[in-house]
Amino acid sequence: MARPGAAPKIDDDELDSLERDLLGRAHGRVLEIGAGWGENFGAFPLDIEWIGLEPDGDRLAELSQRAREWGHTTPPLAAVAGHIPLPDASIDTVVASYVLCTVPDIAAALAEVERVLVPGGRVLFVDHVIAPAGTLVRGLQHVATPFTTRLFHGCHWDRDPEPALSARFEAADVRTYSVPGTPFRVPTLLFDGRPRAGSSLFTG
Ligand SMILES: C[S@@+](CC[C@H](N)C(=O)[O-])C[C@H]1O[C@@H](n2cnc3c(N)ncnc32)[C@H](O)[C@@H]1O
Repeated sequence: MARPGAAPKIDDDELDSLERDLLGRAHGRVLEIGAGWGENFGAFPLDIEWIGLEPDGDRLAELSQRAREWGHTTPPLAAVAGHIPLPDASIDTVVASYVLCTVPDIAAALAEVERVLVPGGRVLFVDHVIAPAGTLVRGLQHVATPFTTRLFHGCHWDRDPEPALSARFEAADVRTYSVPGTPFRVPTLLFDGRPRAGSSLFTG
């Protein structure tokens, strides 16, 4: 029996559809952090101006090629989320899928995200997150994380980025679903938000 307040269970196709809906809300000048091999191009509206950011050299090469195939002319940035080489208030939407599990410092990355966003900009994040306290899955995530960080390029299975996201961004649509993982179901967070009104960056 489901626990009260437990995340709704969905399958891979439903997750795919929810991700496409979330990323489809990107508009204007879009910065995609940790863009990987360019898996998200099909989800974005065709009229965006896409700027990718990716620190891994091998992925960057494939990302550059796929970006060109999708008609995006700006070469992706070889950079990390903690130091985004873009001016203040220069981006309409920041997108990241399955990246906050990996960045070394979530708070530093989100500070940079807020810095580059225009006032009224938008953030769209999706990531796997830690299961609720007291669950077997949460215990397994803690046990597995020392291995996943080594085996999967710094990926933490036991992170909860939602408090850091909600502290910095006004949540417009936040949802968590239980999705099939390997080897157990994991909660996945979808976060759509905007910089908080009165953010120190925009109050002069
Ligand atoms: C699990 S992959 C996700 C790739 C892609 N976003 C996707 O959904 O298919 C995580 C990506 O984050 C990148 N990454 C790792 N550390 C990063 C950092 N500090 N800043 C930005 N991206 C980072 C990795 O190189 C990798 O491409």
